[in-house]
Amino acid sequence: MIITFGHTKGGVGKSLLAWHTAIAMDIPVVDLDFQKTLVFSNSLRKQAGLKPVEIIHIDNDEQFIEMFNEWPEDQDIIIDVGGFDMSINRIALIISDLIITPAIDRVTEMAGLSKFHEIITEISETVEVADIRTLVLLNELNPNSKDIKVLEELVEDFDRFDIMHSRICHRADFYNTMKEGKGVTELTKGKAKSELKNLIKEIKKIKKRGSRCLRRNLMSMH
Ligand SMILES: Nc1ncnc2c1ncn2[C@@H]1O[C@H](COP(=O)(O)OP(=O)(O)OP(=O)(O)O)[C@@H](O)[C@H]1O
Ligand SMILES: [Mg+2]
Repeated sequence: MIITFGHTKGGVGKSLLAWHTAIAMDIPVVDLDFQKTLVFSNSLRKQAGLKPVEIIHIDNDEQFIEMFNEWPEDQDIIIDVGGFDMSINRIALIISDLIITPAIDRVTEMAGLSKFHEIITEISETVEVADIRTLVLLNELNPNSKDIKVLEELVEDFDRFDIMHSRICHRADFYNTMKEGKGVTELTKGKAKSELKNLIKEIKKIKKRGSRCLRRNLMSMH
């Protein structure tokens, strides 16, 4: 299953969640984020003597398409998309089995989410048979006030979005572990660890249920 953390808005937690999910599931990550956040954390991981995350770099669209054209269904991989709109990121959205869109519950974030919905609608309408839907994952929630009505109502208004049951709060463990090259699931305990484990459980449930495989769409892009 190709799992993409995708949003055209920057700074919503795509790389952070890709990192912790890759470690928790022990699967590789394709790094399309030019900031190379994951490479930095991985070098710290190596220095700490931990098994490095397999990070795959892609040079161009053709190489990307070739890699995923024959991607085996039973092999899991994560794609960390950069926070901007460009062709390679659009291809990632088309070929993914599951797209997770981290979103922050702030009024200022709503315009970005709406723009992203516009983009996936446009791709779905222009690329033959592509029908992109994404699962919105609430990230950086305030642990003390979990009222997420604004975002929930907004997501309901967009037909290509659904909301995930899992929620991720703003927690120091998420960035402190990354600074040491670790994943939160490698900690002995903590709320960040439980939240991430719940996310993995939900991803596995989606996989078992069967996700919509859009990989055949790749062929129609040429
Ligand atoms: N749940 C969280 N708890 C604490 N900090 C978080 C959380 N999620 C994200 N952050 C922090 O927010 C910042 C942005 O996160 P990240 O780099 O993962 O975003 P991104 O969506 O990958 O951005 P870009 O689109 O620019 O690649 C980072 O400093 C990260 O550590
Ligand atoms: Mg990133």
